[in-house]
Amino acid sequence: MATDTSIGEEIYQSTTEHPDPVDAEIEGEVPQWLKGDLLRVGPGKFEWGNMSYNHWFDGDAILNRFSIENGNVKFSSRFLRSRSYLESEKNNRIVFSQFGTNAPPDPCKNIFSRFFSYFTMGEMTDNCNVNIVKMKGENYASTETTRMWKIDKESLDSLDPVDFGKKLSGPRSWLAHPHYDQDGNYYNISTSYIKRQNEIYKVPPAKTEKEDNISGLEMISSFPCKDGPTYYHSFGMTENYFIFIQTSVSFSNPIGMLFMKLMDWTYVDFLKFNPKLKSSFYVIDRKTGKVGGRFLAQPFMCFHQVNGYETDKEIVFDMCGYPDGSIIQSLYLSELRKGIKPEVHPPELRRYHLPLEKIDLRNPPTLLLDTNSDGLDYDLIFTGLELPRINYEENNGKDYNFVYGNGLSHKSGAFSNLYKVDVKTKETKSWDIDNCYPSEPVFIPHPNAKREDDGVVLSAVIGVRGQKSFLLVLNGEDMTEVARAYIPVKLIPLIHGEFL
Ligand SMILES: [Fe+2]
Repeated sequence: MATDTSIGEEIYQSTTEHPDPVDAEIEGEVPQWLKGDLLRVGPGKFEWGNMSYNHWFDGDAILNRFSIENGNVKFSSRFLRSRSYLESEKNNRIVFSQFGTNAPPDPCKNIFSRFFSYFTMGEMTDNCNVNIVKMKGENYASTETTRMWKIDKESLDSLDPVDFGKKLSGPRSWLAHPHYDQDGNYYNISTSYIKRQNEIYKVPPAKTEKEDNISGLEMISSFPCKDGPTYYHSFGMTENYFIFIQTSVSFSNPIGMLFMKLMDWTYVDFLKFNPKLKSSFYVIDRKTGKVGGRFLAQPFMCFHQVNGYETDKEIVFDMCGYPDGSIIQSLYLSELRKGIKPEVHPPELRRYHLPLEKIDLRNPPTLLLDTNSDGLDYDLIFTGLELPRINYEENNGKDYNFVYGNGLSHKSGAFSNLYKVDVKTKETKSWDIDNCYPSEPVFIPHPNAKREDDGVVLSAVIGVRGQKSFLLVLNGEDMTEVARAYIPVKLIPLIHGEFL
């Protein structure tokens, strides 16, 4: 009999692809109005030849498609044919360095080229295994480098590589979590490591069918990294402001990054949580790109913002925060396969209050956030929620009530729950079934929805210990099961997805 702690060992493994769509067996009734493709992406292959990746975020990307029409569901999957994947396949070894794995120099090169290759940072990976994003009406797999891959949402073919870095100078980050406005503009934040500044970019919607993938790319704001570059994974966008989240996880030794190959260091090795470095929220005016204020907070680590909106007095900003950076180390495969250590803090759904009256575009202040009676500079809404999703089209940047997310099981190292939390009343509803490990919940509103939570929640559920995997359809209001679509293929944990 398997123990709980071996569940991580069972599910964090490489998978195979199933390019030909297979029918799912339906239990319950998938609503007739629900039509489209849930596309998900994540790490799907962890070994090449006799080499293995170290960190969960390193695995080569696989795409999963759940195609829904007339109450039926079809499943297919394909590896992203990135250069990382194709070169590793051709050479039967890991060719590109990833987040937590350093690729060794090519053994076929002569001794001098191998020696000098130790002193280069190497080409940034195009292994887009983090999110599915939309730009100019096309769909892309994305990661945290400037590379993306245009994908065909039906065949899951890897169509076209995109590199924002070709139009921008120097090594830089890029987020897998952009924002979109009602006009179809794409917004993202990048940190230039050379200029030591954060930059906000906009890509407008396509005007013609044949225009370049990133034509119209425009920098709309820039401001210095006052405390040096830090790690961040998402940002906020309200009606009038962008919210940049400076976490307390910083690059500990930027000069050392030049020698990372020689020292066999990876990007993760440079990310250090600095308990002395205050985290902060930069509030940036969307019209002018000017910083209007910087609000200092107690040190935290954050992957995901949830939502932010303006009231008369303040910007309400909700995010999933951690009091330290231990979560990053806990995502090494060797750790995840054992479960997650009890001392790793669960993510907290936090509400921060950024005072609007202090915002001054001509003379932006730097202010410490007030603390409440518990000594915290945020309101704790709920403990244990990650991969937050809201009714984005209707509520991003606006007052809202509901967030859906996953609850983490430390014992198994995987998400074991689905939650719906009312951020105003803190009322919580959950879905939790033995031997079932659900993925990020994606909310799809009913076409004639009158309420924020009128719709369904989709989640790909990994079955263990003989339980079949399935696509779960939940009622968005009460989190009861509407249908299951059993997939004749074993699923593995992926990261993010989008309903298209
Ligand atoms: Fe993310």
